[in-house]
This record gives sequence, C-alpha cells and structure tokens, in this order.
Amino acid sequence: MYGNDYETPDAQRARQLEDTPESFRELLATEGRVEPRDEMPDAYRRTLVRQIAQHAHSEIIGMQPEGNWISRAPSLRRKAILMAKVQDEAGHGLYLYAAAETLGVDRADLLDALHSGRQKYSSIFNYPTLTWADVGAIGWLVDGAAIVNQVPLCRCSYGPYARAMVRVCKEESFHQRQGFEILHTLSHGSPAQKAMAQDAVDRYWFPALMMFGPPDDNSPNSARSMAWGIKRHSNDDLRQRFVDMTVPQAQALDLTLPDPEIRWNEDRGHHDFAEIDFTELFEVIKGNGPCNQQRMEHKVRAHEEGAWVREAAAAFAAKQAAGEGAA
Ligand code: 3HC
Repeated sequence: MYGNDYETPDAQRARQLEDTPESFRELLATEGRVEPRDEMPDAYRRTLVRQIAQHAHSEIIGMQPEGNWISRAPSLRRKAILMAKVQDEAGHGLYLYAAAETLGVDRADLLDALHSGRQKYSSIFNYPTLTWADVGAIGWLVDGAAIVNQVPLCRCSYGPYARAMVRVCKEESFHQRQGFEILHTLSHGSPAQKAMAQDAVDRYWFPALMMFGPPDDNSPNSARSMAWGIKRHSNDDLRQRFVDMTVPQAQALDLTLPDPEIRWNEDRGHHDFAEIDFTELFEVIKGNGPCNQQRMEHKVRAHEEGAWVREAAAAFAAKQAAGEGAA
C-alpha cells in the first residue's frame, strides 16, 4: 500500500492521489493552499487532525520539563527568559489547537484523546531535566530539531497549519539561541560547569535525533503525507539535515556530540553518523519512557484543577451572549 521498489517517486505520488477530487489534485499540483471550506479527502483531513493535534499536545506537554526549572533558574535574567519561552510554548499549543479546529474537530475532544492515550505527543518530552544544563540542551538540540522539522511545514498544503508555523518557527529560533547561549556560558565556565553541559548533551543527543520519527522504511504515514504536501521531506532527510547543521555548532560550543562515528563524508556531502537504536523510540512512544507516567499524571491533574476556569469562562461568554441578545 505504501509503495514498492519498482515505483518511481512520481508514480508513487500519483498512486497516493488516486481517488481524490480533481479540484484537490489541481490545488496540490499548483502548490496552492487547501483552506477549511475547500473540498478535501476524508483521509487528508484525518491525517491533518492527527498530526496537528499531536503537535499541539507536544507543545503543551513540552512546557513541563522546562517549567520545572523556572523557580531554580540561576539568575533573574535566566528566569525571565525561561518564563517567556515556556509561555511561548503554551501559545504554540493554542495556535495549533485552533488550526485543528478549522478541520471540524473540538478542542475538548482532542484533549480527551490525549488524556486517554488515544493521541500521542513527542517522545522527547518523556526525558527528565536533571540539571540546569538540560534547559540549555533542550533549547539547542530539541528546539533546533523542531526548527528543522517545522520550517518546511510553513509550506504545508493546509493553509491554517502552514500560517501557524510561520510564527511558531520565528519563536523557536529564539528558543534555540537561548539554549545555545546557556550551553556556551557553561562550556566556557568552570570545569564542573563544562562537565554539566557535556553530560546534558550526552543524554539529549540521541533522543533529539529520534524526534524526527522512525526511519523512512518504517514510517507508515510518510509516503501519503508527502504526496499530499503535508510533509515536505522524509524523516531521514530531516534528521540528516539536523546532524549537518549541529556538528559545527557543537564545535563552536567546544562540546562533543556523543557519537564517535560522526564524520564528514565527502562523497555524500553529508556527515555520517551511528545507526540509531529505534527500539528506544518505539518504547517511549508506547508509554515506557522515563517520564511518560509523570507527564500524563501532571497534565490530567492540571486539566482537572482548571475545570473552574473553563466553567467561569463559559458562564461569562453565555452572559455576554445573553446581554447582546437583549440589546
Ligand atoms: N514521538 C512520538 N510519536 C512519534 C514520533 C515521535 N518523535 N515520531 C513518530 N511518531 C509516531 C507517529 O505519530 C506515527 O504514529 P500514529 O500514526 O499513531 O500517529 C508513528 O510514530 C509512525 O511515524 P510516521 O513517521 O509514519 O509518522 P508521521 O508521518 O506523522 O511523522 C512526525 C512523525 C515527523 C513527528 C510528524 O508527525 C511531524 O512532523 N509532526 C509535526 C511536528 C511535531 O509534532 N513535532 C513535535 C515536537 S514539537 C516541539 O518540539 C515543541 C518545541 O517547542 C520544542
């Protein structure tokens, strides 16, 4: 169903678009944007809801590992920057839920799906933040990987998702720089600070590479998502792009990436790197990562404790609507 060795990429793409409306195919062929009221195949809609919801959930759950360090940031300046960053992530989640709602789903249902384990969030947020340097490593590596994955999504075929990504990527770029700056300060500080920075990079490197998803030959959604113009590059292509971008940055930080096999390959024009053990990714996705349980318990508890806010907002909105009706 997802292609075979005998098909050219064009033929594979054409096959993925069989049985879709002519208007939809034309829009994709001319790089047009699909807008909420346009005709679209049900499977395209479902794929977008799955991906956008998962993305939104990731932004919201992603607030936890760093929010955990706001009260312990080493200076007022660091605290203010980290608070702004964590608030940005909340904003990204809200944009993305709003983008998903343009596809006819309800935000409350998406949250139910997350809380009951029917929808996923990114594997990376199931790792602990043990030291202050982890906040730097998340900014540099995790937000760096997010940028590589999300800049192409600014050209996604679905208009509301693509437009949300433009602002999200600008803010992610600030996040990546703040992480780099934290690590640069630590790696040029005392030997203990440098060791702390190196330890954080050692723990976050491979999980960051796994954020891009399973390898292409084990990525069931990629072929169709690429034919539909949702994904613009394969998981492995983006992972390679991230490695190529990060190697010189590690040199500038005077930190070592924990992979002795990384080296420039003149023939390929890319860095080679070690084979990744994807069993870890699949275990984390299944719920068996170091912090899955803690993250979900915290999320569900916060949602339940916030019930009164949602009720108050709904009551206020009803009052406003009744007042407007009376006027
Ligand atoms: N974590 C959790 N699940 C993952 C995953 C990951 N890192 N990578 C893949 N998966 C899941 C997929 O969701 C899919 O499961 P499903 O069919 O049940 O949904 C399955 O593994 C197979 O993977 P595929 O490659 O076939 O799936 P996709 O084509 O959807 O590709 C993706 C996965 C690359 C993550 C893609 O969905 C994507 O680009 N999503 C948008 C970006 C996003 O969600 N990023 C999350 C991080 S957000 C973030 O980092 C916040 C920032 O502030 C740091």
